[in-house]
Amino acid sequence: KKLSIVCAPFCGGQGKGGVEKGPRYFLKNGLENDLKDLGWNTKVESPIDEMEIMEKLKVHTGTDFYKNAKRPNLVGEVSKKIHDSVKEVLSQDRFPLTLGGDHSIAIGTVSAVIEKYPDAGLLWIDAHADINTLESTDSGNLHGCPVSFLMGLNKPEDTPTALKWCPGTLKPNKIAYIGLRDVDAAEKKIIKDLGIAAFSMYHVDKYGINNVIEMALKAIHPNGNGPVMCSYDVDAVDPLFVPATGTPVRGGLTLRESLFLVERLAETGDLVGLDIVECNPNLAVDDIHVTNTISAGCAIARCALGETLL
Ligand code: ARG
Ligand code: MN
Ligand code: MN
Ligand code: MN
Repeated sequence: KKLSIVCAPFCGGQGKGGVEKGPRYFLKNGLENDLKDLGWNTKVESPIDEMEIMEKLKVHTGTDFYKNAKRPNLVGEVSKKIHDSVKEVLSQDRFPLTLGGDHSIAIGTVSAVIEKYPDAGLLWIDAHADINTLESTDSGNLHGCPVSFLMGLNKPEDTPTALKWCPGTLKPNKIAYIGLRDVDAAEKKIIKDLGIAAFSMYHVDKYGINNVIEMALKAIHPNGNGPVMCSYDVDAVDPLFVPATGTPVRGGLTLRESLFLVERLAETGDLVGLDIVECNPNLAVDDIHVTNTISAGCAIARCALGETLL
C-alpha cells in the first residue's frame, strides 16, 4: 500500500482566492499521518510552485482569454504539470491522492489515470456537472469545464494552445455523476445528448445513496469490476457541513452520505485515484467553518483509503 499526495494549490480555474490553500490545510490537519496509520507508505509531491503560479495569475488575469474563458493557458500549463506528476506517481505503483485547488486540476489527474488505465471509469462527485465547453460557459471559469476537455468536446480549432496536450479520450459511458443540483441549461443538454449517467440529489433522495452508488458503478463498468477514478468536489456535500467552498449549493449530501460513498468505493478495491477539490478556507466567516470543511475533506480521503467505523 503506497500512495502519493499530489498537492495542486491552484485557484486560476475560478475567481476566488484562497482555494490554493487547500493542500496546506489538509496537511496541517494531519492527513499524511492519518494515512500512515491506515497502513499506507506515503510521499508528498508538489509539482507546481505556488508562488510562481500566483505571480503568473496576476499576468494572466486580464490577458489570457479564449472567447469567454478566463486564463485557459494558465489552466493548461498547471494541469499539464499535475498530469505529469500523477503519471509519475502511477508509474511507481503508488495511489495518486490529489488535493486541490479548484476543479480545473482534474483535467490533469483524470487524463493521467486514463492513460494508465484505459478502461477506467470516472465518478464525478459534485453539485455541478463541470461539463461546460468554451462555447457554453457563462461564467468563463474553467473549473466549470474540465469534463468537456477530458471528453474532447471542444473543437480542436477552439482549444487554447496550452490545453491541446489533453487527450480528450474519456467516453460518455465511462463517467457517472453523483450529487448534482446546479447544472446549467447547456450542460443538461450535453448530458442528455451524450446519454451520460447522472445522479442528482433527486436520485439520492429517491433511491438512497447506496443504490445510487451501485447504479453509478454499473454505468461505468456494466460487466462488474474495473478501475475507478473518483474526482470529489467537496461542494457535493451540503454547505451545512462544508461551508468554505467557492460555489456552495444548499440541499446536498449529508456528511454521512458523503463518507459512505467513499467507504463503499474503498470496499470495492477498485479505486485507482482520488481528487479532493474546492476547499477554500478564505470563504469561511468563522473558524468553525474552516475546521468543518477541512475535517470533512480529510475524512473523505481517509474513508476512501480504508478507514472504517468498526
Ligand atoms: N456551472 C457553473 C460554471 O460553469 C459553476 C461551476 C462550478 N464548478 C466547480 N468546480 N465548483 O461556472
Ligand atoms: Mn500524457
Ligand atoms: Mn462543484
Ligand atoms: Mn466541481
